[in-house]
Amino acid sequence: MAVKHICCIGAGYVGGPTMAVIAQKCPDIKVTVVDINEKRIAAWNHEDLSKLPVYEPGLDEVVKEARGRNLFFSTEVDKAIEEAEMIFISVNTPTKTYGKGKGMAADLKYIELCARQIARVSKSDKIVVEKSTLPVRTASAIKSILENTGNNVNFQILSNPEFLAEGTAIQDLHAPDRVLIGGETSAEGERAIQELVDVYSQWVPKENILTTNVWSSELSKLTANAFLAQRVSSINALSELCEKTGADVNEVAKAIGMDSRIGPKFLKSSVGFGGSCFQKDILNLVYIAKTYGLNEVADYWEQVIIMNDHQKRRFANNIVSTLYNTVSGKKIAFLGWAFKKDTNDTRESAAIYVADDLLNEQAQIAAFDPKVEEEQMYADLDYLNTRSSDENRKGLSVFKDPYEACKDAHAVAVLTEWEEFKEYDWKRIYDNMQKPAFVFDGRGILDKKLLNNLGFVYYRIGEGAQEAMEVQASH
Ligand SMILES: NC(=O)c1ccc[n+]([C@@H]2O[C@H](COP(=O)([O-])OP(=O)(O)OC[C@H]3O[C@@H](n4cnc5c(N)ncnc54)[C@H](O)[C@@H]3O)[C@@H](O)[C@H]2O)c1
Repeated sequence: MAVKHICCIGAGYVGGPTMAVIAQKCPDIKVTVVDINEKRIAAWNHEDLSKLPVYEPGLDEVVKEARGRNLFFSTEVDKAIEEAEMIFISVNTPTKTYGKGKGMAADLKYIELCARQIARVSKSDKIVVEKSTLPVRTASAIKSILENTGNNVNFQILSNPEFLAEGTAIQDLHAPDRVLIGGETSAEGERAIQELVDVYSQWVPKENILTTNVWSSELSKLTANAFLAQRVSSINALSELCEKTGADVNEVAKAIGMDSRIGPKFLKSSVGFGGSCFQKDILNLVYIAKTYGLNEVADYWEQVIIMNDHQKRRFANNIVSTLYNTVSGKKIAFLGWAFKKDTNDTRESAAIYVADDLLNEQAQIAAFDPKVEEEQMYADLDYLNTRSSDENRKGLSVFKDPYEACKDAHAVAVLTEWEEFKEYDWKRIYDNMQKPAFVFDGRGILDKKLLNNLGFVYYRIGEGAQEAMEVQASH
């Protein structure tokens, strides 16, 4: 059976781009991406490609090529399930906010709903592919639901975790380091694995397609995210020590990164990692370890999150203490709100938590982000439930122009590493700010020399401020 119809449930940051690329690379397969969120589907179908619900460099071109040809976005979930031989589940798996495992375990209610819907609708055999990131052994729960409620239909469950990084999703999907496919070790399982291998091998070299058993595949995704986040927390832990000792974290990162056993990537110290995945997946790993009684394993990984929270908090604290121990009524400009550059995704962005801390100190925040909408920023703050929606709107103003955001500010805080921030007219920004004019570069992207020459007091994570160094030197 060659797959001719693919359905993907969930048109989010993973479902949208991955299916767009599959459709682009496999013109003989009809790919239908479905979602219950009508607004999102309407945005995917928007004529103006700048209005797609996910911003990713190059995504618009891929959608332009395939949409209407063999790529479709729809809210008709049942119809797409019925038609497909292969169904990807790409719905969200957030951290549970209630009951057992609250604040730790992955909430699998959306996954279960999908499994039940597939079971109810299916009239022919299906290969069900877990694209969402799931706790190890979820495939057995999905299988049990499908087998006990189906209409005598055969289901094969595959795990095919997604390793794309937001901001470089299209590049990552076009040339993945590897594609991982886990399946049952039975003959049927191997046939199902081969069907999915055949899809990817239309553009991914065979040696980059890795097949394993289901459990290894599920656990590999959590492990990959844990290792990546751990590198960020490791370098961030050292950044604080650098600030105290006069070492420069960028120099340390370069020196250790040249060791081929360590490697140079993911060693950039910053205000902390964000995004919908790292924290959620590590918490999930911690929870799984605990449920098996592996407390030392759980504690080890939990420390990665503790360090990340500390890094965000200490960035906010440093702004307050540097601004003479009070930011009450002071305008603080935020450059960037997205959790990283080249995406409009703000989930778990460090900016939200730094803003929350500064609002607690009664600062007036003026935010600018090239891709994030005003309403999203308010929704992010409201979600924390720290204060009323009205109070959030009084404390945060959102600007469409970065120079307006920075005008009359006491300090500028860089929260996202957007390239355009480097190109701004920093003299103009300086001239229009309160003096002394402070810059807190949470991403280490600005030209320190230039800013110092213009008169800014410049603070970069992992490097003591000039004055602080001088004070130390005089002792
Ligand atoms: N965002 C990333 O960079 C990334 C990378 C790799 C893996 N993942 C994983 O992929 C999964 C999806 O992440 P995302 O960022 O795309 O999430 P998302 O929130 O952007 O998208 C999920 C979509 O699923 C839809 N949905 C939920 N239940 C549904 C149902 N029953 N029927 C139809 N649609 C339904 C939602 O409306 C939403 O649009 C998660 O498990 C995540 O951990 C994400």
